[in-house]
This record gives sequence, C-alpha cells and structure tokens, in this order.
Amino acid sequence: MELSVNHLLGIKYLNEEDIQLIFSTADQFKEVINRPIKKVPSLRDITIANLFFENSTRTKLSFELAEKRLSADVINFSSSGSSVSKGETLIDTVNNILSMKVDMVVMRHSSAGAGIFLSRHVNASIVNAGDGAHEHPTQALLDCYSIREKLGDVAGKKVVIVGDILHSRVALSNIFALQKLGAEVKVCGPKTLIPKFIDKLNVAVEDNLIKALQWCDVANMLRVQHERMDNSYFPSTREYVQQFGLNKKILDSLDKEIVVMHPGPINRGVEITSDVADSKQSIILNQVENGVAIRMAVIYLLASKIKTS
Ligand code: NCD
Repeated sequence: MELSVNHLLGIKYLNEEDIQLIFSTADQFKEVINRPIKKVPSLRDITIANLFFENSTRTKLSFELAEKRLSADVINFSSSGSSVSKGETLIDTVNNILSMKVDMVVMRHSSAGAGIFLSRHVNASIVNAGDGAHEHPTQALLDCYSIREKLGDVAGKKVVIVGDILHSRVALSNIFALQKLGAEVKVCGPKTLIPKFIDKLNVAVEDNLIKALQWCDVANMLRVQHERMDNSYFPSTREYVQQFGLNKKILDSLDKEIVVMHPGPINRGVEITSDVADSKQSIILNQVENGVAIRMAVIYLLASKIKTS
C-alpha cells in the first residue's frame, strides 16, 4: 500500500484510503515510541530540512522528534536571523538548502499556498506544517487519529469546532479530514469569525455554544488567532469568553460526557478554563503524543515513495 500523493500539501488532496493508511502506519509507530528503545532505522538514508518561516513550538518539536525516531538526518531552519530578511526568494532559499542533498522539506509559512508553490518548483517531497490560514494537514490527521483512539471510530461522530474559524488552518484541515472519514461537522463562533464560504463546505453553523455542545460527541476548541487579525472581530475578550468559552460548569451541565480537544497553544481562561483543559474529558495531551506517531507515519510513507520513484 502507498499514498496516492508525493507531497502532503493539504487534506484536500488525500482520499480516505490515504488517511486510513496513515492511521494504520501510525498505530505501528505508536507502539515503537512506547518501547524502551524508541527508534527505528527506517530512514537512515533520508535527509529532511525543517523550514519554519513562522513561529511554532509543538509542531516543530513534534516533526523533529518524529524524524529522529525514524533515524533520518535532520537540519533545522528558522527564518528569523536568516537571509530571508536580506531579500532572498523562497525558491532560492529552498534550492540552496536542497543543493546540500536534502530529500524532504517540512515547511511552515505565513502565506497560504506556500507549500503548493514550492512543490511545483523544487525537487523534494514537501510536507505542509501550516500555511497561513489555509491548511495544517498533520494537525487534522492527529486530531482525527485521537478521536478514533478515544471513541473507536471517526465515522458517524458529531464534531463541533468552536472559535476563530476564519483565521484557522486547523479548522479547514479538520473539516476536510472529518468529512472524508464520515463524521458530521458543525462550527460555532462569533459571526465575524465564521468564513462566508462555510456553506460550500457542507458545514452547519450553530451560534449557541450550549446547543452546539449538546449536539456533539467531540468539541475542538480553537485559539483566537489575534496575530492574524487586522481588525476587531468581537467587542472584548470578556464577551468572547461569556459566549464561546468552555468552563467546567457548562461541561458538567451536559447530559453526556463529550470529548474536549485543543490544538494548542491554549489561552487558559479564554477558549477553555484550566479545569476543563486538565479534566478527564480533555484529550489535549493525547493529541500531542499522537502527533509524533502521525508525523512519523506521514514522513515514512512519503519517503518510501521517494525511494521507489
Ligand atoms: C495551531 C497552528 O499553529 O496553526 N497550533 C498548532 O500547530 N498546534 C493553532 C494555533 O496556533 O492556535
């Protein structure tokens, strides 16, 4: 079995079989990373460059760890302090790095479509680690994998994504992944933070958080992405919290135990309170753990296509 794609640019370009193949491969790697020796020699002949043109903690560490656990050679690059600030183009930066014989590029960039653009111009396998407000495919894969682990399956589950949908690459990738796997998706948030094209994605909008939570099996609480806002999208953080913040009182008032997720970084007391983040219904740290296994699976499957092509 192999992936239908040579790059991971977005969930949009994957089919359901690809996602299931990534999950079954991640199952095996999850077993590996829980052994005393957490490493396999699979990618000893592969060199990977992690290019982060935008800030990241979790995603960068998670990719790096995944690559090292597969025994790949790894080089890291952050745009701050680099020649990008001297005016070098993206293609020139990447081609210079590739001339050092790099096979795969993991890239985070503030421009939507940066990975797609690069895949057309350079000779390496590209993994999108987040492109602007567009897609963040490995996050959606690890989110769906964590739902599958917790609830047995993604098909037939009801998932609400709450918060800043407009600026969130996590939201768009999750919508595509959940729907491909047969889940039902709603979004909930301030009207100003719901994109106009949402109807075209076959996603219902629920304005009322309590109703959304009563409907769902899983609530994925997103951070308000202040860094992407050029305007004021709601009157104040206090009002946002009152209408869309999840606290323990609300969670306990529901007639079923829903699963609570968050991609991180959390703003404790804004989108969720600390007691919700740390409650037994929260799978936030499982998401982080699963992120390594999912990224190992993605890199392993893409690298096996390089070797055979
Ligand atoms: C997200 C991101 O950077 O898109 N975080 C992540 O990758 N874990 C979401 C966010 O920044 O809120």
